[in-house]
Amino acid sequence: MGTRAKRPRSGQRSQWPLLIVANTLPIRRQRERGVTRWVTAPGGLATALTPIVRDAGGAWIGWTGAVGRIPTTFRHEGIAMVPVPLSRQEITEYYEGFGNGTLWPLFHGAIREPAYHRPWWRAYVAVNERFAETVARHATPGGTVWVQDYHLMLVPSLLRRRRPDLRIGFFLHVPFPAEDLFARLPWRRQVIEGVLGADVVGLQTPTAARNLARLARRFGGADVHGNMVFKEGRQTVVDAYPISVDVQGIEHVAGLPRVHRRVEELRRTVGRGRRVLLGVDRLDYTKGIDLRLKAYAELLTRQREFAAQTVLVQVAVPSRDRVLEYRRLQERVDAMVGRLNGEHGDVGVEPVSYVRRNLDTEELVALYRLADVMLVTPLADGMNLVAKEYVAARTDGRGTLILSEFAGAAAELKSALLVNPHDVNGMADAIEQALAMPAPEERRRMRQLRGAVHTNTVQDWAASFLKSLRSASSA
Ligand code: ADP
Ligand code: G6P
Repeated sequence: MGTRAKRPRSGQRSQWPLLIVANTLPIRRQRERGVTRWVTAPGGLATALTPIVRDAGGAWIGWTGAVGRIPTTFRHEGIAMVPVPLSRQEITEYYEGFGNGTLWPLFHGAIREPAYHRPWWRAYVAVNERFAETVARHATPGGTVWVQDYHLMLVPSLLRRRRPDLRIGFFLHVPFPAEDLFARLPWRRQVIEGVLGADVVGLQTPTAARNLARLARRFGGADVHGNMVFKEGRQTVVDAYPISVDVQGIEHVAGLPRVHRRVEELRRTVGRGRRVLLGVDRLDYTKGIDLRLKAYAELLTRQREFAAQTVLVQVAVPSRDRVLEYRRLQERVDAMVGRLNGEHGDVGVEPVSYVRRNLDTEELVALYRLADVMLVTPLADGMNLVAKEYVAARTDGRGTLILSEFAGAAAELKSALLVNPHDVNGMADAIEQALAMPAPEERRRMRQLRGAVHTNTVQDWAASFLKSLRSASSA
């Protein structure tokens, strides 16, 4: 949903007691039919933190996603946005390079070979310094700063040097790799020391927290006792805080009459009497979209009639498309969809309905409500919010979730059909099982899944992290 950004009124404050600091602002400039507007950015980080910072009346510091010159601080849908500029070269070396060519693949189990380039590292240091500088200018004395994700792992210690009065939290949205994998990083010591500048370091799972604590001992020269890491007279809590979604917000959207009408319309135009399978992902090689398509093709080969009885709706929003691996993936997925429809479809019947763009929340929720089976099959994923959004949207108690064992969400969503996303036949079996599932079992599983998302909402997640931060920094 896009709106025009408002300039701050004169006299409006330029320091905030809660600052969210992330690589990008939670909005992107989008040009459609000749009109440019801000739209909500896709991705778990933006989705999770937007309601938190809005409710707290805080500000968000981040890059706009565009090159060079930047607007001054502005408000968008109740959030003060403080843009940080990046040059073309910094975008290439810090964001596409060190962020998405080194840390992203390394942290996702090296499913693509991470590249180690010294100029990328230098750009990463320089941009982290700029973020720390910007935060230092905008935080109120004794204020709280919450730094997000792998792009900004040096900011906690760079900021502490400038502003020792602040409470500093850090949260990693992606997995944290096993010791020996992380040990490959030429700048492992600096990265570990960087995050240890925080009072609390949050990770998605206990395994990730353990990995980080062990590395703090091995490369950061720290002492570790339980979830406490001690270094140079300071202490940092390193613990798991599994992120979640705005359950109430999604349930509200799911109950809107116009969303119900949209579901009915989609049932007529897309479903047409067929069972609907759904995938919703950023076009990222960690999401397992290609193997999912293979599993669906396997199913259609096993049972030809499924081609007329089912439809797979795959929504994939392009992401990081200046990075070669992402362009390659997009080409591969495009080609696979074409082949699958060509080989298994018929005149007027396409088994895969492929949408390659950003959808607004109401459209996404309508699709969740349409889907008999939701396929969330990443090869590695810190949490995966799509899985939780699907469950939150199913206030009708229907629908089956097929979920990768390698998504952080699998630890909480135990009543999903859990799959190994590398096992194409196993995934095809799970889809068959979901399609044949008796209604009472479907309802029972969904009831348990809904219980799990209600127990831990994104508001609970933020409250528990911020509570730890308050008590850690006053200890
Ligand atoms: P990641 O953070 O790696 O992208 P998550 O599943 O945790 O993965 O979060 C993805 C977020 O982006 C979800 O909130 C989802 O609704 C949103 N999203 C994904 N694809 C789209 C799309 N095509 N249009 C709009 N939002 C999307
Ligand atoms: C994941 C990362 C976020 C990132 C998002 C979208 O969720 O953990 O840090 O913002 O993907 O990626 P992008 O590169 O478009 O910001």
